[in-house]
Amino acid sequence: MKIITIVGARPQFIKAAPFSSVFRKENEEILVHTGQHYDSNMSDVFFEELGIPKPNYHLGVGSSRHGLQTGSMLEKIEEIILKEKPDGLLVYGDTNSTLAGALAASKLHIPVFHVEAGLRSYNKRMPEEQNRVLTDHISDLLFCPTQTAVDNLGKEGITLGVVITGDVMYDAVLRNIDISRNRYKDGVWLKILKDENICVPDLIGKDYYLATIHRAENTDDHNKLINIFSAFGKMDKPVLIPLHPRTRKLIDELGIQFKNITILNPVSYLMMLYLTANAYMVVTDSGGLQKESYLLKTACTTLRDQTEWVETLENGWNVLCEIDVDQILKTVTRDLDCLNFPQPLLFGDGHAAEYICDAILKVGNKNV
Ligand code: UD1
Repeated sequence: MKIITIVGARPQFIKAAPFSSVFRKENEEILVHTGQHYDSNMSDVFFEELGIPKPNYHLGVGSSRHGLQTGSMLEKIEEIILKEKPDGLLVYGDTNSTLAGALAASKLHIPVFHVEAGLRSYNKRMPEEQNRVLTDHISDLLFCPTQTAVDNLGKEGITLGVVITGDVMYDAVLRNIDISRNRYKDGVWLKILKDENICVPDLIGKDYYLATIHRAENTDDHNKLINIFSAFGKMDKPVLIPLHPRTRKLIDELGIQFKNITILNPVSYLMMLYLTANAYMVVTDSGGLQKESYLLKTACTTLRDQTEWVETLENGWNVLCEIDVDQILKTVTRDLDCLNFPQPLLFGDGHAAEYICDAILKVGNKNV
């Protein structure tokens, strides 16, 4: 079977690695990188670290307004589909690259396979919510990481082609956590920090907050961004922030001063796993990192009004928090009773990639 897979943004490279290695054993995968993320530390490093094959096509679309970015991907992906004539097209998650790929294929009547289907925040102003709802409604196979995702699709009348597989990000964590820990032992992470002249807190003692901020809903409202950084400055432990380029640009423009905060350039996936596993708590507006914190048994505070990963809220592993300095400080210093509860396996059994591959091949065999 021959499929086209679309990737373009950082979390999609991580999700693509487990599936590609399984599918490529006996099938052909044409990998298309849209170029939505293009900085070396937002893209190349993930391909190198995770052994993802070099993309067959690189569209180089870069950053622009959402319509322009999505439209230019759509045009280019359509050309590739017409040339390659695949049996299906696979997309991950909820980015503009996801929607562009799904739409191009659907209009040419090529089956669309959506990994991470059924996630909902029910906030239609989020570009990610727009992308995931539209993609789900034109997909032929919908791979859901959780039962909640299956139920969400059911509420919208989508029941055909829905498969519960568990989460490919869990597959990725299981494959990589030991490699990440070994690199720490070999001194790799500390050397990277030292080379960047970064004075870091102890990376062993679970004695720092690990924070990431990049969502448009937090960065576009400058008051929110200032409040977030003011709270970081007042926290009871040092705050380590690998900073997304969009957020760095904004804090430079706003002239925000840092106290108690160590800013890092975006770090690789393996390094991020280590930093997450050893943090006292993660404070984030990312979707994937909420899950990774849970999987690595680190508590999380999510600086948003909603989460797509509602399961992580059980037992207080993850707590949603409005953007208010006092509220943030109160939430990060809460009692971590969650650490005393056994953790249910919320995201499958670590073999999501295999289940996805099996389901796609079944459809492929029917079409032959
Ligand atoms: C995108 C996804 C988001 C995902 C995130 C992961 C959409 C709508 N959003 O958000 O769901 O959580 O990726 O990181 O698809 N930039 C650079 N270098 C890069 C990439 C981006 O400098 O390599 C800067 C540019 O100024 C750009 C801005 O970041 O304008 C935003 O990038 P974009 O890809 O549009 O969205 P993200 O915020 O990264």
